[in-house]
Amino acid sequence: MSTSIKWPSWPQYGQEEYTAVEKVIRSNQLFAAKEVQLFEEQFSTYIGTKFAIGLGNATEGLHLALAALDIGVGDEVIVTPYSWISTASCILMQNAVPVFCDIEPESFGMDPQKLEEKITEHTKAIIVVHMFGYPSKIRELQAIAQKYDIPLIEDASHAHGASVNGKKIGTFGALSVFSLHQRKSLSVGDGGIICTDNEEIKDKIYRLRSFGDFELSYNYRMTEFAGALGQVGLRKLDYHNSQRIQNAQFLTELLKDVSPALEMVCVREDEVGVFYAVLIRVNTEIEHLDKKLLTLQCAGIPIRKTWEPLHLHSHFNPTNKPPARGLPWDDPRYSGIMRNKTFSDLELPMVKKYCPHRLLEFYVHPPTGLTELEFAAEMLKREFLL
Ligand SMILES: Cc1ncc(COP(=O)(O)O)c(C=O)c1O
Repeated sequence: MSTSIKWPSWPQYGQEEYTAVEKVIRSNQLFAAKEVQLFEEQFSTYIGTKFAIGLGNATEGLHLALAALDIGVGDEVIVTPYSWISTASCILMQNAVPVFCDIEPESFGMDPQKLEEKITEHTKAIIVVHMFGYPSKIRELQAIAQKYDIPLIEDASHAHGASVNGKKIGTFGALSVFSLHQRKSLSVGDGGIICTDNEEIKDKIYRLRSFGDFELSYNYRMTEFAGALGQVGLRKLDYHNSQRIQNAQFLTELLKDVSPALEMVCVREDEVGVFYAVLIRVNTEIEHLDKKLLTLQCAGIPIRKTWEPLHLHSHFNPTNKPPARGLPWDDPRYSGIMRNKTFSDLELPMVKKYCPHRLLEFYVHPPTGLTELEFAAEMLKREFLL
């Protein structure tokens, strides 16, 4: 057996993408116009929401979601600590206060059982994430949000095409945000899109997206290139997702022989996960884990420890001079549960247990197939077999 492999890269653009980009250049209209509008229509139809609004990226989308909900100083937004920084930094962009709620150990989304205790009179929104394309316990989270009449925002940046009981991820919240960044399953370079059924919110996001409105608005528009590439990516998405799903199934089988210490994280019965990455739970303390992972990476295998929890991020624990915009939890107008608290001291046992040491990401994007996965399984066996 060879000692290394060239893992397929993602994304792989071809003639359809070249043609789409060329068409935009020839049209001489490069910023948000017809191609963006077509993509918005097609994406909203695919997801099953009334509206979709194309943006420059998902970070802008998360920011606009909060701005459209009029969230600001003195408000709290409940958010998961296991995500990319944008999921929580958007709260600071509106000068509101993040309240971190622990995750559950099945799909590593926000734990519905911990959510209710975080809700206060200051809570103005809840942001959940479907990490790596594994649906969160979204029905339970949605039920709690509805009970308290708090808008739910789905960060669906990893979950294009995932579903729960036949209903697409991105249709459970008042708003949902998808990233279309180069590495994502629907990849346009840089791009993002917000979905909603609410006409008022849609209109407000349109106004905030393109500067010139009477209230503070931004230039968060999508380019025509992204709109055109998005249409091509959307046509291929279900096929690509089916390959990711098949690869996750292969890997589940292959991992059974590797080591009881490594356990594939699977989706629940009535869910479709889309595996932006596959997650592997590390069930016991593994000596020299970093070294083993480095060996696998050097052999070409895209495996790594997952992300550090967000409540430890320096944005929430500034050690130097506070930023010029101030710290929302120190603002005299704020009197909620994070007043006089230190984010890094928060007790969040599940995220502490898993992130980053007990959860591995493994990338199974197309055109990865059985050859690569069998090679990876053999290498994993060499490193991890007890
Ligand atoms: C979960 C999640 N949310 C939001 C973002 C931000 O996406 P973008 O790069 O489109 O701003 C990312 C980026 O990786 C992400 O992983």
